[in-house]
Amino acid sequence: MIKKKSVEEILEIAKVEEVVQDFVQLKRRGVSMIGLCPFHSEKTPSFNVSPAKGIYKCFGCGKAGDAVSFVMEHENLTFPEALRYLAKKYGVKLEETELSQEARQEQQFLDSLYIVNQYARDYYQDQLFNTDLGKSVGLNYFRERGFREDTIRKFGLGFAPDKMDAFVVKATHDGYNSDLMKKVGLMSQYGRDFFRNRVMFPIHNLSGKVIGFGGRILVKDVKAPKYINTPETEIYTKSKVLYGAYFAKRAIRQEDECILVEGYTDVLSLHQSGIENVVASSGTSLTVDQIRLIKRNTENIKILYDGDMAGIKAALRGMGMVLEQGLNVKIVVLPEGEDPDSYLKQVGVEAFKTYIGKEAKDFIMFQAGMLQEEAAGDPIKKANLIKDIVDSIAKIPEPIKRSLYVRECARIMEVEEQLLVNETNKVVAQHFKKQQQEKERTQLRQFEAEQDGFAVEPARPVLKPKEDAIASGDAFQEKDIIRILVAGGSTLFDQDDNLTVAQYLLSNIEDVLEDFDNKLYQRTANLARERILAGEEVSTAYFLNHPDPEIRELAINLVTSPYEYSENWAKRWEIFLTTQKMPDDNFINDSTQSLKRFKLRKFDKMIRQNAEKIKTLFEQKSDEYLLYLKLDQKLKAVRNQLAEELGTVVF
Ligand code: UTP
Ligand code: MN
Repeated sequence: MIKKKSVEEILEIAKVEEVVQDFVQLKRRGVSMIGLCPFHSEKTPSFNVSPAKGIYKCFGCGKAGDAVSFVMEHENLTFPEALRYLAKKYGVKLEETELSQEARQEQQFLDSLYIVNQYARDYYQDQLFNTDLGKSVGLNYFRERGFREDTIRKFGLGFAPDKMDAFVVKATHDGYNSDLMKKVGLMSQYGRDFFRNRVMFPIHNLSGKVIGFGGRILVKDVKAPKYINTPETEIYTKSKVLYGAYFAKRAIRQEDECILVEGYTDVLSLHQSGIENVVASSGTSLTVDQIRLIKRNTENIKILYDGDMAGIKAALRGMGMVLEQGLNVKIVVLPEGEDPDSYLKQVGVEAFKTYIGKEAKDFIMFQAGMLQEEAAGDPIKKANLIKDIVDSIAKIPEPIKRSLYVRECARIMEVEEQLLVNETNKVVAQHFKKQQQEKERTQLRQFEAEQDGFAVEPARPVLKPKEDAIASGDAFQEKDIIRILVAGGSTLFDQDDNLTVAQYLLSNIEDVLEDFDNKLYQRTANLARERILAGEEVSTAYFLNHPDPEIRELAINLVTSPYEYSENWAKRWEIFLTTQKMPDDNFINDSTQSLKRFKLRKFDKMIRQNAEKIKTLFEQKSDEYLLYLKLDQKLKAVRNQLAEELGTVVF
């Protein structure tokens, strides 16, 4: 662990404006500096840096922090990684406390795997540039494919000679033991070179370390595969890696879009032409881990397919997962027989960019259009295709987005919108039921394990509210939301979107529903949720006539009692409300406000829990408390933002 003294030194020396300016162009404006926010896409700058205060804040998306949190956020680094980054930038020598024996050995082992890989990369590169065979075969091949020397060097491309064990012999001579070479996949079990007579593509992790290689054969050989990859090792898991991600991540964030291609050479080609937000799945369909990797940087993904219909259809079937992760997917089909690399070479970069801009189709629309064409005039086929489309739409997590798709697809496929609504709701309800069952099963397992005296998961630190006020405060927020839901759920929230107040509320509290303190309110919300999923109206009458007397009673109370703020509201929560009483029928305004207050309370709770944690760690003299200190800043930034939106004063 990094010593506190070093941490302080870095915090002292790192200037937020200098750190930010490595990534963002800033202009001076009065005492602060301003630029385009790197965390969301915008055209007019709202990203502020205050050198005097040592902080940045975006007034568009609310991201805020200091030099360290900027690096963490922007480069996807942990706190210690960010400190190391800054130490390097400012030439500070880090002092680290001793690791445990075991941890040190593990660290050393992993480090040595990276070192062997780096050695191998240098070796292959040396072979490529400095041997006769490397130059005449490998380098010549890359050049013929149009790769410039700067590209070859940037991506660390190389050449593995056609010998049994040239690499192993050389590495052994240089002091690398065969055990490590095997563990990193460079040496076969028979002690030979794993890669022979191939051009080499190093594969990097997100911090730029070489974790594996791909090797392409140069001679025509029907028996050998065109590409071979490093087998799974302790530092290389194929399903978690996207080729080119290290070189692409900055551009992905800048463009707020990730272009996905199939092959190594596609990545190189596009990158070399200045299209840098590109990664490759390396010939396999996307995995959840890969999607998450993308999602850390952008929600928008554009997939380039070569124009072969059978291949595209196969690929489409695998797209459900991407939708489930909430990504916006666009599809570009390249002309028949072309892959991104070949097409780019054929038409040049400008025409290529125009093409992938113009031809990009929203995934679901694309699917709808394609299926529609296919099923033209065939009612049975059409019924089947509706099922396919509905399955895709139902995977989209956001209800509002779902309903937009339903409308658009109904138009494209020439079916009645209501039909599609009903079908989609059925599937969504099924998903929901399945999730619910899964959750119940987990709870049951956990319960059983506890009975046996085991804990399945390490118990989450639950902070018991110290005073009643905390619980009743949360319950008050919950009541507020439920009141609006019951009394005004069927009110139209947005005329254009056909969105009701109930839909709006539910879609916003879905993820915290299980954290509701009051079980009756929670049950009421769940009832509303089920009705929405079933495509039915959430009306006051529904609750007033509910078979469950508890629900009926609640509904009566909620709709009859005049609405008031809790007496000591302002005093207890140190928040002053701009309006002291709200009109009973203003459900639309109420629901937005109420949600924000609900979230505000949740944040307050998290801040309190975090403060406890900081205190404990500090008392234990653990440096880890610095990490939670950062979290504290972040939580407070969001909390204050919410409070600001509510027009409340924060003390
Ligand atoms: P392609 O066959 O389309 O190759 O495979 P490519 O990338 O266009 O390569 P060039 O242009 O012929 O040199 C696409 C990707 O599938 C994986 C590789 O990652 C390749 O980049 N692949 C392909 C394999 O892993 N093994 C193979 O045998 C073939
Ligand atoms: Mn190709």
